[in-house]
Amino acid sequence: MLETKFCGIGMENPTRLASGIMGVNSGQLIRVAKEGAGAVTMKSIGPRERFGHKNPTVIEWEHGLLNAVGLPTPGVMNLEDEFEELKELRKLGVPLIASIYGSKWNEFGEVAGYVASKKPDMIELDISCPNTEWHDVQFACDPGICAKIVADVKNIAGNIPVIAKLTPAATSPVSVAKACADAGADAICAANTMPAMLIDIDAKRPVLAFRKGGMSGPALKPINLKIVYEVYGKVEVPIIGEGGITNGRDALEYVMAGASLCGIGSAVWARGSGVFAKVCSEMEDWLSGNGYSKLEDVWGIAHEKQPFRRLGMVDMPSAGG
Ligand SMILES: Cc1cc2nc3c(=O)[nH]c(=O)nc-3n(C[C@H](O)[C@H](O)[C@H](O)COP(=O)(O)O)c2cc1C
Repeated sequence: MLETKFCGIGMENPTRLASGIMGVNSGQLIRVAKEGAGAVTMKSIGPRERFGHKNPTVIEWEHGLLNAVGLPTPGVMNLEDEFEELKELRKLGVPLIASIYGSKWNEFGEVAGYVASKKPDMIELDISCPNTEWHDVQFACDPGICAKIVADVKNIAGNIPVIAKLTPAATSPVSVAKACADAGADAICAANTMPAMLIDIDAKRPVLAFRKGGMSGPALKPINLKIVYEVYGKVEVPIIGEGGITNGRDALEYVMAGASLCGIGSAVWARGSGVFAKVCSEMEDWLSGNGYSKLEDVWGIAHEKQPFRRLGMVDMPSAGG
């Protein structure tokens, strides 16, 4: 009922582990794959070793997580063993998505060159991390620079599909998505965390050592869901819906908005690494309970139906006068 194809790659179900969550080493990725994720994404890889920010880097709050991990990475030269161990994923038949970043636009190509030689199933471009000291630069706010990054990586990646990961902080995520698709991106991910902060009033200081960070989890769902809804139909490539998916109903909202895959990150904190299997069985329950035999029957369906009209509030006869 949930089998799917994404960028031509077959998957048992439409869930994927989001980047940076449990994806920091191969053992964790393999565990998540065994526990039911349809695809898994590695922690973003940068060009050189980088240590990330001081603790605390991740805080749980009432509506999700706030993080400023700061893109720690062993750098491309220190990942040989990691990729070697990940060969086990092949036996499980779970696609591997490598995520890459650069601090300058032309560093993405440098990292892509190494990563492509390891033949992941897809490469995701983290052009949207809010937790860097690069003068608050999020490439994904600028359609022009994103197009340059995508075109450069596409030249290097050969036939490996490339995913561009948007930021909800862009004024027009749709323009960024279109620029990426026009430059050759094979898929769009909507989207990364939202730049945010929290203050501990007793300590009278920001809760994160880096002061600000990226907000994820349930509070992010309505924001990123709207981006998926708006991007759908504006680009001819598939969309990964990501942000606040905690249960099957959340995932179905994204599918009805037009997402072909559902990225899950913070919910691993809330529901454990078995969350992928749980979300899938909740989706199946809803689909069969509502007379559907396959997921694609509800794909993008929210675009076809008119929003509810509340009697008494719409179409009220004019009071005249
Ligand atoms: C602790 C943490 C680390 C993250 N690291 C990365 C990362 O390295 N690369 C990336 O593209 N996104 C990263 N993200 C963003 C997630 O991949 C995901 O896009 C975001 O959290 C929204 O999904 P969620 O609400 O299901 O968590 C990170 C998120 C968290 C919470």
